[in-house]
Amino acid sequence: MDKMTVQGGHTLGGVVRASGSKNAVLPLIFATLLADGEHVLHNVPDLVDVNHACLLLESLGCTTSLRSGTLRIVVKPLKTCEASYDIVRKMRASILVLGPLLARFREAKVSLPGGCAIGTRPIDLHLEGMKALGAEITVESGYVLGKTLRLQGAKILFESPTVGGTENMMMAASLAEQETLIENAAKEPEILDLANYLNKMGARVEGAGTSIIKIRGVEALKAAEHSVIPDRIEAGTLLLAGAITGGEVTVDKCQPQDLESLNVKLTESGFKISVDKSSMTVHKCKEWRGVDITTSPHPAFPTDLQAQFMALMTQAQGTSVITETVFENRFMHVQELVRLNADITPKTRVAVVRGTCGQLMGAPVMATDLRASASLILAGLVASGETTVNRIYHLDRGYEKMEAKLTALGAKIQRLKT
Ligand code: UD1
Repeated sequence: MDKMTVQGGHTLGGVVRASGSKNAVLPLIFATLLADGEHVLHNVPDLVDVNHACLLLESLGCTTSLRSGTLRIVVKPLKTCEASYDIVRKMRASILVLGPLLARFREAKVSLPGGCAIGTRPIDLHLEGMKALGAEITVESGYVLGKTLRLQGAKILFESPTVGGTENMMMAASLAEQETLIENAAKEPEILDLANYLNKMGARVEGAGTSIIKIRGVEALKAAEHSVIPDRIEAGTLLLAGAITGGEVTVDKCQPQDLESLNVKLTESGFKISVDKSSMTVHKCKEWRGVDITTSPHPAFPTDLQAQFMALMTQAQGTSVITETVFENRFMHVQELVRLNADITPKTRVAVVRGTCGQLMGAPVMATDLRASASLILAGLVASGETTVNRIYHLDRGYEKMEAKLTALGAKIQRLKT
């Protein structure tokens, strides 16, 4: 298993480009199942999760090729409607295959994704949504079995906003008979990107990005071409990397409007942030204050930046209270940050970070999930001596060329193949 070593104490500086969004491209890949033909997606990041999504499509009978950021997917009559345990267990987002399979092929057999390190993450809202559209859903031997004569439009009220659930419903409802209304829908930018792609395919989706989405079902869709939005979480992580070292870093080719909540909190903490049409800069800063954050669905502070922001707060003047409301078990990075000498007290969903503890000290640590691994690398950038982040494969799931990007900004970071 690969590890990464980080030599702390180097101030970052320069310009770095954001990659295409992981969380946007995954639903787009599954949406291609809604129409035969060649789909072309640009600005696709080369990530392990993207590779898994492509393998899933190939196991169903599609062909895929990713070259220089362009992903071509040829969808033709499928050889099976089964998404096997072996593939689904590697990536929870595989559940997004359920809606397209049911809508287009009227049957699906999809392995239950199971729990994951950051919480139990059930899929009950996905299944309730499919049932509301008229699908017959059962769960047998670890698989979700679904069938339908044809999905029927319906009104769906999510009891809490779910990103994946909203995406699954949008894809399914695009080929359903009549109109579907999703209430309390997730409003993340990735939802809007999916709606834009579905509409290019001939779907009629309105209201994406708000809490009410209306989808008028159509008889058939066609393959389309699209450029994936920039990854707001990667962009935010790179800004935080600059911030924690007190350096000046510009993230180019991003969508600053998607990072408003981070901008607000960095500014409140004492950083100066400049925003251009498609770039954001964090300016040099010697001292910053501890500020409180509470994660919540978009446009509030994203849970996917909580761990990285916590690393920044270990270096702040004063105390920061970090409240996680989206996932019930997303503080596993705390124990690892404490190994680096951070002063953090975790409670169930609240962590109190006392930033005046002095310098972090390099140590071997363990990445427990994708964003936790980014948090530990950020902490390693300012810890004295060397920090070794083990189980770095988590990082490869969602960050494209992270060590190359950080190295270009002046970090001393190295991947060790084992
Ligand atoms: C997506 C993102 C993930 C991000 C999360 C929240 C992708 C591929 N992943 O995950 O990076 O951290 O949004 O912004 O886009 N829930 C249920 N029942 C369900 C579905 C969800 O109880 O059927 C709960 C979850 O356990 C969680 C909350 O709802 O507590 C939000 O989850 P959801 O928005 O669905 O996250 P994902 O789509 O899995």
